[in-house]
Amino acid sequence: MHQTKIDKGIIAKELRFVPEIDSKPSKVFVETYGCQMNVSDSEVVVSILKQHGYVYTEIMEEADLILINTCSIRENAEQRVRGRLDVFRLMKKRRPSLLIGVIGCMAERLKEKLLEEQKMVDLVVGPDSYRDLHKLVQQAGTGQKAINVLLSREETYADISPVRFDENKISAFVSIMRGCNNMCAYCVVPYTRGAERSRDTQTILREVRELIEMGYKEVTLLGQNVDSYHWTDTATGDEISFPRLLSLVAQLSSKLRVRFSTSHPKDMNDEVLHTMAKYDNICKSIHLPAQSGSTRILELMKRGYTREWYLSRIEAIYSILPTCCVTTDIIAGFCSETEDDHQQTLSLIREAKYDFGFMFKYSERPKTYAHRKYPDDVPESIKSRRLQEIIDLMKVLSVESKKLDIGNVLEVLVEGTSKKSKHQLYGRTSQNKIVVFPRESYQIGDYVNVLINDCTSGTLKGKVIQ
Ligand code: SAH
Ligand code: SF4
Ligand code: F3S
Repeated sequence: MHQTKIDKGIIAKELRFVPEIDSKPSKVFVETYGCQMNVSDSEVVVSILKQHGYVYTEIMEEADLILINTCSIRENAEQRVRGRLDVFRLMKKRRPSLLIGVIGCMAERLKEKLLEEQKMVDLVVGPDSYRDLHKLVQQAGTGQKAINVLLSREETYADISPVRFDENKISAFVSIMRGCNNMCAYCVVPYTRGAERSRDTQTILREVRELIEMGYKEVTLLGQNVDSYHWTDTATGDEISFPRLLSLVAQLSSKLRVRFSTSHPKDMNDEVLHTMAKYDNICKSIHLPAQSGSTRILELMKRGYTREWYLSRIEAIYSILPTCCVTTDIIAGFCSETEDDHQQTLSLIREAKYDFGFMFKYSERPKTYAHRKYPDDVPESIKSRRLQEIIDLMKVLSVESKKLDIGNVLEVLVEGTSKKSKHQLYGRTSQNKIVVFPRESYQIGDYVNVLINDCTSGTLKGKVIQ
């Protein structure tokens, strides 16, 4: 699942407590780091706490409880969280009754060590223990440190209708599965999120129906590897695979845009592509992380595919879905990566004609297969240089991909007011490209047809035509 802007940014919401005899704390502030899955989880956390009487406010300084939903994917993601904990420590010095909780992947990875290392942290809660939050907060309120980091084989929070953070009420994340069984050699997620499990199809459909009724226009189905979604319907005995789920969601409303993330190249089959082709409202955009263009490195990474297999998937996408845009994740400088391996990554990027990519320097994560078996032997300066070459190439491809749209009329779902000018609106195309255009009398939530007349590497520009 790709790292969104949220990786750098913050989702912050607060809850105001309607007092329940002597329960404390009354107000909660949640700050979220990491992937879309974490954003979705924070919505679940808020929903669970709400059931116990807590309510939002957006002022951190007012909070009785601060929860930080954390990411462990790379060392720098954890550093960022430690930096924030330093800020919370100062707040707690001024206000000792303030409770601080670390939740999410770092809580799961570090467990009790977090309480030892960060003395001011009062509670540590892993991703499968959020139903226990209220109890743990109460325990922490009595001065006892509270921790629950048990991973589950079943928990999907299927019955919880998450509180929504998107203020425009246009787009929502819907979690369809949790955990990951892939054990890619570099990746900490199987350790922080546990084994893969799918969510009951009926609860997914119910949640999407509720969103449609609330006026939402777009859902993104979330999982670490959506292609391995699998549910057996207890009533009918039906086996529901990802393409089937996708078509069931798409059929709920032709006005609802359906997206999904993340696809795994080893599992993404033509049935998914044909399902996407069949329904106009399934967006023509696929996030298909390659990680490397070298078969030797892909083998070391335990990704389960070769360069040729990956490129054959790309070919299938462009032949079944000619208008589709593909995005990727790339890791630069994985263990033993040579200049030749790196050149193969650059050539794969060129061949795949990506519209966009998330690009990272390899960061060794404790306990992973790569940490145990391979030396992290590509020098930092070489990792940096290779990453820069990948970023530069991706930028060229992003512009090329956008230029192809100039002169075309594209359907855009309006999502908000442009940051640069209140006279401009922005939205996205089916291909997930951002489009900026004059506001005129159009509203957030409208579908408009925009004639594209200009672009940058990140944005299309145009004008609505009737
Ligand atoms: N399930 C998703 C990935 C989730 S993590 C998938 O398989 O695509 C998001 C991205 O972070 C990964 O695709 C990978 O590119 C990157 N990543 C994961 N572990 C990393 C590590 N140890 N160092 C650098 N990047 C890493
Ligand atoms: Fe990590 Fe691989 Fe699972 Fe993605 S598929 S979460 S990279 S182990
Ligand atoms: Fe997501 Fe980071 Fe956890 S990428 S699954 S929040 S380690």
